Amino acid sequence: MSSVLFVCLGNICRSPTAEAIFRKRASEAGLDVVIDSAGTGGWHVGATPDSRSVAAGEAAGYSFAGQAARKVERTDFAKFDYILAMDRENLRNLQTLAPEGYSGHLGLFLDFAPNQSIREVPDPYYGGQDGFKQVVYLIEQASEGLINRVSEHS
Ligand code: 4NP
Repeated sequence: MSSVLFVCLGNICRSPTAEAIFRKRASEAGLDVVIDSAGTGGWHVGATPDSRSVAAGEAAGYSFAGQAARKVERTDFAKFDYILAMDRENLRNLQTLAPEGYSGHLGLFLDFAPNQSIREVPDPYYGGQDGFKQVVYLIEQASEGLINRVSEHS
């Protein structure tokens, strides 16, 4: 079974949105995938997703039920075969944390949306509600590509 970990900075905005969207898409595609999310920073550990992310995600039909923020751990590299960062800074931090010889796919989530010119999911935390809607849109694009990839390998 494939396993996917989405990673952003706080694990309260972008990666919980990715978890919610990909969970629904995987279920619709009939794919059995372990899905989780985490943050490279620990400030919000234990918190539920940001209400602005929940508003934007639920309006588009996604559920954030059961989510609580956690920090990414070295042991995640033994558990997940896709570890997907929302931006390059998160990716650099993950590359530093990764054990040598990690055999999974560590990269940017938007690499699965090759037709999308935006390459990183912008941090919406200090902006307005439009930023949260854009996060949903970008993640929907990349989720399609990731569904296709995971289906080919399962
Ligand atoms: P996220 O957004 O990385 O998408 O969860 C952020 C959440 C919190 C902070 C920054 C970004 N913060 O600085 O507390």
